Amino acid sequence: MTQQVYLPDDIPAVGKKILTDAGFDVIVGSGRDRDVMKKEGSNANAVLIGTQPFDADIMDAMPNLKVIARNGVGYDAVDVEAATERGIYVVNTPKALSDSVAETAVLELLAISKNLYQDSKAIYDDNWKYRKTHPGRDVAGKTVGILGFGRIGQQVAKKLSGFDVKVIAYDPFAKSTDTVEIVDRDTIFKTSDYVMVHLPALPETEHSIGTAEFKMMKNDAYLINMARGIIIVTSELVDALKNGDIAGAALDVFEEEPLPVTDELVSLENVLLTPHIASNTIETKARMAVDATQDIVRVLHGDQPKSAVNRLDD
Ligand code: DGY
Repeated sequence: MTQQVYLPDDIPAVGKKILTDAGFDVIVGSGRDRDVMKKEGSNANAVLIGTQPFDADIMDAMPNLKVIARNGVGYDAVDVEAATERGIYVVNTPKALSDSVAETAVLELLAISKNLYQDSKAIYDDNWKYRKTHPGRDVAGKTVGILGFGRIGQQVAKKLSGFDVKVIAYDPFAKSTDTVEIVDRDTIFKTSDYVMVHLPALPETEHSIGTAEFKMMKNDAYLINMARGIIIVTSELVDALKNGDIAGAALDVFEEEPLPVTDELVSLENVLLTPHIASNTIETKARMAVDATQDIVRVLHGDQPKSAVNRLDD
């Protein structure tokens, strides 16, 4: 019987072509709702997902599943243990998006420093004078502290190399380079003008940045989070932003997504909020689709995937 690949969200044509060329039926679904996925994916041999939760309950509704492919790098929303127990590979696309996420991180660092969003909004609000009371800050001469010096953190450092900044990083697995000094975690918070979060969401990193860290930070420092919302204690970040413990925050990820418009973050002036767009570019979406579908083909053809995050016993 022809094997079936279920795509709850549509993907670029280049990815679908890889699947159809390999002889699979491609089912493009109608979104991420749990019950909808359970129904639409009930005959799937493979599924390609975004950041939506994918747990044992959903896996059990797809009894023929051999591979769960994550269109992206973070797989914190997938119950990998449950997948492993069921003999299902979990694969991701770690190489496809580093450039895009790093570009967005640097963009948001610059934008929050220069008050870009609020200044632009002031024009639409017919308030040209807003800029007088809300000057931006220069980045040159400052210290940027990167938490997590993996693929994305390293790309951020590379892209910042022309900005005349000192770059330091914290990562228990990384070594200093010619341009980036690896320091201890507290040094990042105490000495950085910009703290950039590029950590994976793991039990050790969840809610690992809260009041204690914001108190260590300088009052004129900024937090930039492009990783996962759950790494920050959001209520404590809101307090720090309101108390002036830190100058501002640029956030692309949130504990709850979509971020409700009623969330207190939305009412603050010293934040830049974007809807999880760091890897949402035409080029990166195509790269992720290619990497993910190629691993789906490998698994469904009985080969080893290139980017499995779990190991299955033979
Ligand atoms: C990732 O790859 O995990 C990004 O957050 C986009 O999904």
